[in-house]
Order: sequence, then structure tokens, then C-alpha cells
Amino acid sequence: MKVGSWNEWDPLKHVIVGRADGTTVQAPEPAVVRNWPEDGFALGTYGPLPEEMTAAANEQLDDFARILEARGIRVDRPRPLDFSRPVATPEWSQKSMFGAMPVPDVLVVIGNELLEATMSFRSRWFEYLAHRPLIESYFRADPGMRWEAAPKPRLTEASYRPGFWGEYEALPYEEQIARVRAGELVLTEAEPLFDAADIARCGKDLFVQRSLATNTAGIRWLRQHLPEHRVHGVTFENAHPVHIDATWVPLRPGLVLHCAERPAERELLQYLKANDWQVVQAATPGRQAPPPLSACSPWLSMNVLVLAPGTVCVEASETAQMEQLDRLGFEVVPVAFWDVAPFGGGLHCATLDVHREGTLEDYFP
Ligand code: ARG
Repeated sequence: MKVGSWNEWDPLKHVIVGRADGTTVQAPEPAVVRNWPEDGFALGTYGPLPEEMTAAANEQLDDFARILEARGIRVDRPRPLDFSRPVATPEWSQKSMFGAMPVPDVLVVIGNELLEATMSFRSRWFEYLAHRPLIESYFRADPGMRWEAAPKPRLTEASYRPGFWGEYEALPYEEQIARVRAGELVLTEAEPLFDAADIARCGKDLFVQRSLATNTAGIRWLRQHLPEHRVHGVTFENAHPVHIDATWVPLRPGLVLHCAERPAERELLQYLKANDWQVVQAATPGRQAPPPLSACSPWLSMNVLVLAPGTVCVEASETAQMEQLDRLGFEVVPVAFWDVAPFGGGLHCATLDVHREGTLEDYFP
């Protein structure tokens, strides 16, 4: 048993696969407002996702776990909490939690360090508890593991722009993009905030997306915390940026899959070009509609999980994405996963790589 992973592509040995049990449409809070009247959750309402949906998602998650195990990868599962219960700190209270499906939102492994993210939603403040039984067992088993947690955020009103959502949603797309470019989204810079899923790991280089969940102070905290790495804060032209793994997905040294709808800033493209990295525009998703009860987009098609250099899991109905990766020289492992999407995303969103073989390399020398 060893905790260790430096990038998104080395041979996967041990992974956590999330669970759908109890996933809840969050009660309103400054960071998120849910409004899905057609699916039974009108503005201001909240509660667990329907049981049939939860059962279907768990079936696909269990099948995915079996596919990974059949390839000799150790799979662990989190312990879901009662996510429908209210939570509080001395400074605020919140009427619900969220879930235990998207594990890499909360945790990231960088080398032999397992780092718990700050998170920026009050409904997700306690989510790490679903993963603590596993983390404690890893800490007991691996004497070389570093176990770190970023400063627990306060998440008072000062961490959020007042009245953000109503105002932002009323803006035309171009003005929303101008706000994204200016880094003026829901989070203020009152304290460091980041979700782990805004980090894409390429050895010595870590690309961290400024998003609705990650602020500039959060990126600065990561930079100071990881002095051996080059931590790049990056912005994509995405009106609702959150989590880098359906926007910018490194597949192997020298190759990154990129969402064409969300252009990258010039500096980032130049940095890749200068180091002979190729940026490939991901195939158009087969589905046009986003998943129900979800903040995710059809671009979950590119939310792939690399099992080893040259082998990649892709959602089974996304034929164009599978064909593109096949042409790029990958063995493609199809995994039916669309029923999981409402619970927080695709194959990459559902998995935390606890151990990949390999060492720290500089891919941008
Ligand atoms: N925001 C992404 C989208 O465009 C979804 C990413 C979800 N990733 C995650 N780790 N939860 O659909």
C-alpha cells in the first residue's frame, strides 16, 4: 500500500471510486443556487436525488469498479454520510450537504502527499468526512505518506460577492466571459479557496483553473505549499468554469485534450507550444443536452480516465470521443456512465488516483 501519483497518465494501481448514495440537490447558499423546476427542484427547493436515479448510478459505479479491478487495480469506496442533514460552523449554517460521488473535487494526490482541498461551498465543507475512514487507513498502512489539509475556510459572507448569481445570470454571454477573464466571479479573495478538481497534474507542472470554486488566493496557497512545482493559474473562456477535467485533460506527455468551446489564454497555449506539447480539440459530444439535476455540461464526454500510458476509459455512448482517442493511438475501454452524470460528473470526476506508478518528471524543461 502506497500513496503516490504525479500525473494523470502513469499506470494506475489504486483508486477511490465514488458512491451515489444520498447525493442531494443542495439547499441555496451564497456559492450555488439550483433551479431545476422541470426535474422537480424549483428555485429554493432541495433534497436527495430520486431513488431510481441513485440506484442506476450506483449500478454503473459498481460496474466501473469491477472493470478496474479486473485490470488489477485496487478499488476503494467512500462511506457516504446523511447528506440531507443541515450543517453549521460557529459562523454560518447550511440546510444540506451534497454527496460522495466526485472524489477528486475534495482530494488530490501530488507525489506522496494526499491533500484535502479547502472547498468553497458550505454544502461541501464537511465532505472530506466521507473519505476520512479510507485516508486514515492509508495513513496507517503507508509510512511514507504525507497527509495534508489546506486551511479550513471560514466561508462567511465576506468570501462571496453579494447578490452574484441573480446579476450574473442576467448578463449576456460576452459580458459573463469578460467577468471570467477579469476573475470577478462568485468568490472574493477574502481567503484561499480551491477545489482539488481544478488542478490538472503534469509532473512538475500543475495547471490550476480559476473558477467558481477556486480563487486566486487558493492558487497562491497551492504555489506556496508546493515549492517544488510550477503552479500555473489558468483561465478558460467558460461562462460557468468549475473543475478543469471537462475542459483541459492531459492524456500523456506532450498531449492535452481541450474543449474548443472554452478557449484557453494565449500564455498557456504558448507555454505548451514552446515545450512541443500538442493541444487537441476534443470530439463534439454525442449528447447535446446536459445531464438532469446537474451543473455539468455535455462535455463530460471528454472527462476520461487514463489507466496507463496508451489506455483510456471513455463513456460508452460517446462514439466520436472514442474514435478520436483510438486515432490518437489509445486502447479505448468503453464504460457506461451516463446515469452517474447527475451525481457530479464523468469517469474522471468519480475517481481519485491514490497510486500511479512513476516518478516526478519535468515535462516542460
Ligand atoms: N464543469 C464541467 C462541465 O463542463 C464538469 C466537471 C465536473 N468535474 C468534476 N470533477 N466534478 O461539465
